[in-house]
Amino acid sequence: MRILITAVRGKTGSALAERLASRDDIELRGGSSDPRLVDARGVVPVDFSWDRPDRWPAASADVDAVFVVVPLRADAPALVASYLATTPPTTHVVLLSERDPERSGTQGWSARVEHSVRTSGRSWTLLRPGWFMQVMSDPRFLRDEIAGGRFGFPHPGASVAWIDTRDIAEVAELALLDRRHVGRTYELSGPESFPPARVAKILSEAMDRPVSYVEPGDGEALDGTSGFERELTALTYERVRDGHFAVVTDAVPRLTGKPARSLQAFIAEAAAAGVWETA
Ligand SMILES: NC(=O)c1ccc[n+]([C@@H]2O[C@H](COP(=O)([O-])OP(=O)(O)OC[C@H]3O[C@@H](n4cnc5c(N)ncnc54)[C@H](OP(=O)(O)O)[C@@H]3O)[C@@H](O)[C@H]2O)c1
Repeated sequence: MRILITAVRGKTGSALAERLASRDDIELRGGSSDPRLVDARGVVPVDFSWDRPDRWPAASADVDAVFVVVPLRADAPALVASYLATTPPTTHVVLLSERDPERSGTQGWSARVEHSVRTSGRSWTLLRPGWFMQVMSDPRFLRDEIAGGRFGFPHPGASVAWIDTRDIAEVAELALLDRRHVGRTYELSGPESFPPARVAKILSEAMDRPVSYVEPGDGEALDGTSGFERELTALTYERVRDGHFAVVTDAVPRLTGKPARSLQAFIAEAAAAGVWETA
């Protein structure tokens, strides 16, 4: 079986690649806009950029399934539709979507991406996870701020049921390999939701030094974003405020047969690995 992961160096794609690469029955292709940077064991690097449609047919030639990570661009619904039209008609598509897609971005941006997948003529499974725990260890997101002793997150009264991307990967593996998941949509969350001050406390305890919860000032939470991504992030924080990311679902334990990974375990593991010491 041949599988393509479109963003193999990302937080979810890398976790999925780690699971699939150990299987003898899978030829695994890892897509990147710069395939020279793909160094994951057992992964065949392929040139896959949303900016280079001319490369899509080669990346997807003879694949049986593809894990699609949506680019944060306004034209993603059309882009995903165009890309899927270049895949073999028998391709099974597992889409990394998000919670409450109808409320995402302008005019339900994620819902429109999902629509592109559902109407692609390919079989599909939709994954709708909440916030990833791994944004706390990602240098492009919260890693350095946490290393500096600060956890800035808007809306102190709103909780988030953070999910470990390894649980998303575990569900994605099942969806890619088992036809019983065709046509299904899974709402994925971690096992418990936490207000941000409680997250800061868990971080402090695991790091054995103070990490303070700080409510970002006006616009500060959007620092470092621009254009469509800024608009998308602002609307996402509104959904945090309204409690949409606090909802705990049973999909991970129901599908994997194991409890979803806890935020405490993720933070303890990352602290022990020195994630917040080196930044
Ligand atoms: N973060 C969250 O909490 C959260 C929650 C729910 C849903 N999501 C969704 O998850 C997706 C992000 O997934 P992630 O967090 O696993 O990824 P990520 O860690 O943010 O990494 C983004 C990936 O996109 C790739 N990329 C960058 N430019 C590209 C291009 N022009 N063409 C193709 N690939 C390109 C990068 O790889 P290369 O540099 O190698 O190309 C990288 O692997 C988004 O669609 C987001 O809406 C995120």
